[in-house]
Amino acid sequence: MNYGEFGGQYVPQELKEKLNEVEKEFLSAKEDEEFMKEYRYYLKQYAGRPSPLYYAENLTNHLGGAKIYLKREDLNHTGAHKINNALGQALLAKRMGKTHIIAETGAGQHGLATATVCSLFNMKCTIFMGEVDVKKQNTNVQKMRLLGAEVVEVKEGERTLKEAVDVAFEYFLKHMDCFYLIGSSVGPSPYPEMVKFFQKVIGEEAKQQILEQENKLPKALIACVGGGSNSIGLFNDFIEDKDIDIYGVEGAGKGTDVGKHASAIYNNKIGIIHGMKTYVMEDENGKIQDAYSISSGLDYPGIGPEHAYFHKTGRVKYDSITDKEALDAFKLLTRIEGIIPALESSHAIAYGIKIAPKYNKNDCIIINLSGRGDKDLETVLSETPSKSTTNA
Ligand SMILES: Cc1ncc(COP(=O)(O)O)c(C=O)c1O
Repeated sequence: MNYGEFGGQYVPQELKEKLNEVEKEFLSAKEDEEFMKEYRYYLKQYAGRPSPLYYAENLTNHLGGAKIYLKREDLNHTGAHKINNALGQALLAKRMGKTHIIAETGAGQHGLATATVCSLFNMKCTIFMGEVDVKKQNTNVQKMRLLGAEVVEVKEGERTLKEAVDVAFEYFLKHMDCFYLIGSSVGPSPYPEMVKFFQKVIGEEAKQQILEQENKLPKALIACVGGGSNSIGLFNDFIEDKDIDIYGVEGAGKGTDVGKHASAIYNNKIGIIHGMKTYVMEDENGKIQDAYSISSGLDYPGIGPEHAYFHKTGRVKYDSITDKEALDAFKLLTRIEGIIPALESSHAIAYGIKIAPKYNKNDCIIINLSGRGDKDLETVLSETPSKSTTNA
């Protein structure tokens, strides 16, 4: 499946055949009422959906602009939106008779969700994770191991998410009998479409919930973008509502101007990464550059192909938030609402803090709170001088 010029299947022929098998099964499963019934059953009874749409009154009053609603994906089982997609793809793998699942992970949330569904469906699980992220997100690594997953530390390159995906693909090429459960709306077709399909429940619920609570649609939507799964999940059902402003927020790291960032859109360069054509951080010789963000889940040099299409067509505005802005938003939301957000989600909150005052008090905006911050406490505390830790 292509999105304008973006997407596609830039992979070796033998992998194309495997991907086409997955696509065929996916297209039949999504039309199969029994499959969808089982998927919805696990979303509700296992993951805890629907997730609430919470009116953040304190944050709204503090900022003095539009009413801010938070879509609480942090309250899902395993603490993030990743479980929606992991359940869907694991059910598909089961339907295909697969018994071994592999996955990449950055922040560990997708690895944790995958290890969890593998326990649930009694499947073997191998997770590839960069050595840097293994250290940074150690709680999630411990949880994955407790769940019975093998966590393979990837020591190549920057030792973060990009290399974890590289090695997962290499493994998949050698072991094509396993099922590669990709965690974001990236990779060769049919993954971006499949991940969106299993994440679009976020936006479907949010639309119904905002209509119930406000009797009108929001003026704006905001979500952070690593590969782009929580964002595409929220945006999908609102894309045709042309009056709604939609914002995708990448990691600006230490600043896009100093070059240490994770904004694939920033340099406006189109290339190939992980089997898809999209915007990618690459130098003038076409070499992929190292991405950097304080948040492991945003630390990725590409962006999902549908986001590339939305950027090119102007339907979604992509911007970025620095580590410092995200940390400040993390602390503000924690103190003012009693909700500790994931560092990834803190980027979306920070962007909301910037733009909410520009909207009218009668307007409302929805921010996707993609995950909870338990995994990030060490990172946040190490970035916070001890004096301000107690008073932050
Ligand atoms: C809580 C959370 N939010 C967002 C992301 C970014 O991924 P995506 O852009 O696929 O939603 C991650 C990735 O690990 C995550 O853990």
